[in-house]
Amino acid sequence: MGASAGSSASSPFKADLLSDTLTRPSKAMREAMARADVGDDVFGEDPTLRALEERVAGMLGHEAGLFTPSGSMANQLGVRLHVKPGEELIGDSLAHVVRAELGAAAVLSGISSRTWVSERGRFRAEDAASLMITGVGPYQVCTSLVIVENTHNFGGGTVQSLDEIRRARQVTRERGVAMHLDGARLFNAHVASGVPVSDYGREFDTVSICLSKGLGAPVGSVLVGSADAMAESRVWRKRFGGGMRQAGILAAAGLFALDHNVERLADDHARARRAAEAVAEAAPGVVDLATVETNIVILDVAAAGWTSAAFVDAALAGGVRTYAVGPGAVRLVWHLDVDDAGTDVAIDVLTGLVRSAPSA
Ligand SMILES: Cc1ncc(COP(=O)(O)O)c(C=O)c1O
Repeated sequence: MGASAGSSASSPFKADLLSDTLTRPSKAMREAMARADVGDDVFGEDPTLRALEERVAGMLGHEAGLFTPSGSMANQLGVRLHVKPGEELIGDSLAHVVRAELGAAAVLSGISSRTWVSERGRFRAEDAASLMITGVGPYQVCTSLVIVENTHNFGGGTVQSLDEIRRARQVTRERGVAMHLDGARLFNAHVASGVPVSDYGREFDTVSICLSKGLGAPVGSVLVGSADAMAESRVWRKRFGGGMRQAGILAAAGLFALDHNVERLADDHARARRAAEAVAEAAPGVVDLATVETNIVILDVAAAGWTSAAFVDAALAGGVRTYAVGPGAVRLVWHLDVDDAGTDVAIDVLTGLVRSAPSA
């Protein structure tokens, strides 16, 4: 195991495929955190945090960055920046911002949301263009923001097309609508597609990325945008309760993650594919291999005669933790703390289950 390897701390599971947020900081990451030079970030005096914000902004082709404790806060700061109370954001119905941030846009910022239905979260410019409403004065809610998620979590790790994003950018520019990228897994998209993160990043007014998912840091996200936008977001971050003090300790984990854990995401993608291929061979119809693009695999366990709840319990009995994402669908997520041996165990258990439906 190299410096990029995950924690050796013991897990109660033989393979924990619940989420890529489970990664525990490795020894080398913890050492980098312990060495971090820190200061009070509310006073703008944490050098390690500054370095992380500047680095991520530069990587994504933006002027400035802002560290946040979570991806949800980074997204909600982006939303707050572009949408006035009483206006709306639009996105697909599976988007994390509309589905899993617990109504934050409405609760914290007085913003309404409308959604279109997508196939696996796949972004199409025409869906955004046909839903957005602009220039309707006092008669209807005005669209101020389009949200794109890349890769798409509930869609199953879907990588978005840069061409579609560029087409949408053209329309939104003409109509005075902003674009925010929820890039919690943008580095997975980069590794899978070969598209530089800056090519994705430049098409958006703001971008959030997470260090705490596949990149393996324990905490943290970064929002990037113009220097003015980040200055305004710094005020809102404090207002939302996200002003931090010696957070350079966390930023050091983020810098370590960017140095060591980006290119290795390809290992997670390869393991996810290997497992998906094994399941597809054991029970054709349970997984469509064309949908396996990154580190997330969605199994249609109903096609093998299972409910997702029963399947999750049976997998757990075999030491493999998975996640029910629908009555007949189960999600598997590969990450830093699931190696080849863990993948072998997962393949054994999951292929055994899809071959043998429970008796009715
Ligand atoms: C696509 C996406 N965006 C944002 C988030 C929010 O991140 P956090 O849990 O750090 O708030 C997640 C979390 O899983 C996510 O999957």
